[in-house]
Amino acid sequence: MPQVLFKNHSGSEVTVNLCGATVTSWKHEGEEFLFCSKKAVLDGSKAIRGGIPIVFPNFGPWELGPQHGFARIKEWKQASDPRDGENGAVSMDFSLEDDDQTRQMWDKKFRLVYTVTLMQNTLETALTVHNTGGEEFDFTTLLHTYVRVEDIMTTTITGLQNCTYTDKVHVGEHVEEREAVVIDENYDRIYQAVDGAVNVNQDMQTLGTLRIERDNLPDVVVWNPWQEKAAAMSDLVPMEYLEMVCVEAGAVTSRVVLPPAQQRTFSQKLIICRGQQVIL
Ligand code: BG6
Repeated sequence: MPQVLFKNHSGSEVTVNLCGATVTSWKHEGEEFLFCSKKAVLDGSKAIRGGIPIVFPNFGPWELGPQHGFARIKEWKQASDPRDGENGAVSMDFSLEDDDQTRQMWDKKFRLVYTVTLMQNTLETALTVHNTGGEEFDFTTLLHTYVRVEDIMTTTITGLQNCTYTDKVHVGEHVEEREAVVIDENYDRIYQAVDGAVNVNQDMQTLGTLRIERDNLPDVVVWNPWQEKAAAMSDLVPMEYLEMVCVEAGAVTSRVVLPPAQQRTFSQKLIICRGQQVIL
């Protein structure tokens, strides 16, 4: 599957695989900030285990098609060349439209445009969903970001306190009491209507804090398969669960309804905040 790499002038570069328009790598000053498994399948035969797969038009198991929808396994088109924006930003667009295969699963007419923008210290990814048909449709969507961590055992996630979450592992609905969430088991929680940014906090000397800001993506899924599930996954090296945490910005607890000829943009910014205080 073809890949596209582009750079900005402040030492950042991003790689996008046209399978799913999946961002598979984002480097700033030589340091990688996204996790991508050494066993990830990059030929388009399955979703890429790492980077930022795009979930559309359905989050989770789906009676009409594959888990997390088809967008992450379809081949997207490169819809623009890299273009310069304000303050040294560089952007590229990718697109996907309905075809016979998508209409067999989900009989809707749509156009997706995914804009990947490198700014100083920041990667922005924005998915615009256009309804190009004559009827309204509804969907769920999510940016399934795999954050690279040096050591999951010393990583915390802040910004989730007091949020209600659905726990897919210890089935039920709860309220997050912790200011700093620690991942130390198979973890699969959907935090609902999270206000403000979520931070992945690591050692200041290495990766520091990665701040995730969201627009039109109210929910945040936090996922790590942990040891046993990781060992059973064909596209993950068993110990790699220690080097990743998925912090996924989504519109998943309520379905988004899009009338004909309308469009909506769902975006996130991943912001490198090195040198900020780390809560452990
Ligand atoms: C998360 C889900 O978003 O994705 C998990 O909450 C799921 O339940 C995980 O296991 C990975 O999904 P997949 O299809 O990429 O293996």
